[in-house]
Amino acid sequence: MTEPFLRFDGISVVFPGVRALDQVSFGVHAGQVHALMGENGAGKSTLLKVLSGVNRASEGALWIDGERHVFANAREALGQGIAIIYQELTLAPNMSVAENLLLGQLPASLGFIDRRRLRDRAMRILEELGEGGIHPSTKVRDLSIGQQQMIEIGRALLRDARIIAFDEPTSSLSVQETRQLERIVARLRDEGRVVLYVTHRMEEVFKMCDAVTVFRDGRHIRTHDSLDALDHDTLVSEMVGRDIEDVYGYREREQGEVVLEIDAIEGRGLKAPISFEVKRGEVFGLFGLVGAGRSELMRLVCGAETARAGEVRFQGVARRFASTGEAIRQGIAMCPEDRKSQGIFPVASVADNLNISCRRFFKRWGLLRDPRRERANAEAYIRRLSIKTPGPRTPIGTLSGGNQQKVILARWLAEKIDLFVVDEPTRGIDVGARRDIYTLLYELAEQGKSVIVISSDLAEVSSICDRIGVMRDGALIDIVPRREATQERLLGLALPA
Ligand SMILES: Nc1ncnc2c1ncn2[C@@H]1O[C@H](COP(=O)(O)OP(=O)(O)OP(=O)(O)O)[C@@H](O)[C@H]1O
Ligand SMILES: [Mg+2]
Repeated sequence: MTEPFLRFDGISVVFPGVRALDQVSFGVHAGQVHALMGENGAGKSTLLKVLSGVNRASEGALWIDGERHVFANAREALGQGIAIIYQELTLAPNMSVAENLLLGQLPASLGFIDRRRLRDRAMRILEELGEGGIHPSTKVRDLSIGQQQMIEIGRALLRDARIIAFDEPTSSLSVQETRQLERIVARLRDEGRVVLYVTHRMEEVFKMCDAVTVFRDGRHIRTHDSLDALDHDTLVSEMVGRDIEDVYGYREREQGEVVLEIDAIEGRGLKAPISFEVKRGEVFGLFGLVGAGRSELMRLVCGAETARAGEVRFQGVARRFASTGEAIRQGIAMCPEDRKSQGIFPVASVADNLNISCRRFFKRWGLLRDPRRERANAEAYIRRLSIKTPGPRTPIGTLSGGNQQKVILARWLAEKIDLFVVDEPTRGIDVGARRDIYTLLYELAEQGKSVIVISSDLAEVSSICDRIGVMRDGALIDIVPRREATQERLLGLALPA
């Protein structure tokens, strides 16, 4: 084989209290899709940020096409033809699609910019991404998360980079969007570019990638230059350092009476009245393609949005929640899908982010905050979900993506909640940690609580839920019991007829 086009040479990155990368060395060939895998906090995003000049390595260098580089800032990396699609969206929500696509595309020193041509190219790329239906003047905040992600990808493609890196690009994409992305990635490879691809989805690695590098705790574990001789279980055990037999680990349990009855509810995002019931001790799945109306439905139920018609009965009483706060007081909590805009307070500590919704249960004499209980609660969940953080007081914004997700989830596990609605709970979560989250959901159900899991992950819904409601285009199409819930059946119901 030829020399790698890109080589990481002894890269170390140190943050206060964390050695995020420890002398990482490996090579990546041009014309290859090279997967980066590892548990949450293993250092994947940090490595990409070294490549893009956002993080500085304390040791080591990059070799690109035989030249040694140590980037001092993002501009230098850009100058070397490096484009990254970050894990967290970086678009400006109040600017238009076109503005976001073109933002920072050309160095300011280029006095003459052919805006019209650039704009045409931007629109062509949108079309290639299968998002030709988006009007260029639409404000980014009005797009779905999946569409926003596609805009991010479009922005990187516009740079015409030699090295292009994707950090968990599909975690918020619909099935169609994912297929488009697969085509784009294959094309970039065929054009002879270097493609780095961070993902937690095993199927994607075997389907789309030619090589894989595994990280664990900031260390390079192994680079497989070919996937021919590699199997799923080996890859998992290299990632987590142990064998995991069944990620889902479904547990049978008793179910009680109906606790939630939704009767012909109608409202924004729904195209037909929807009715269903959830029992005590049940894990109920809501599956559908992105945009099918699952989150919208649950937002109506949980008071984030006002229903136009219909009734919600919870624990036998008709309820109409004026706000999510009221729903929480009555025992229903919804853990949102988009942690950046709805979820976290990045500069606040892990403990504060974790305690924020259950703090009122920790008041002493109903008045004061009880720091001791708050701290104990935070520590308990940090342990329980193996949240990787230097401590409870660390700002949550410095945690890896998956670990932030775990904090958000833990936030809703306060004891006074009887019905949990979790929206894409394992998005961006590694295999080992997924297992922890599933176990936690089963435990909640075993304690007599109920869980509604909104998920686009077929394997997940079909494996962890007792019944699965399938939505398509704003309507509930069918409810399938676990024993009949094959992936084919669920997908068949979810896809446009
Ligand atoms: N700006 C920062 N300040 C302090 N610590 C940081 C910072 N960025 C990352 N870290 C730490 O570095 C380690 C590696 O994080 P990184 O984001 O690279 O993980 P990752 O492999 O991308 O994980 P995930 O799969 O969850 O996205 C983590 O322990 C994280 O908390
Ligand atoms: Mg990451």
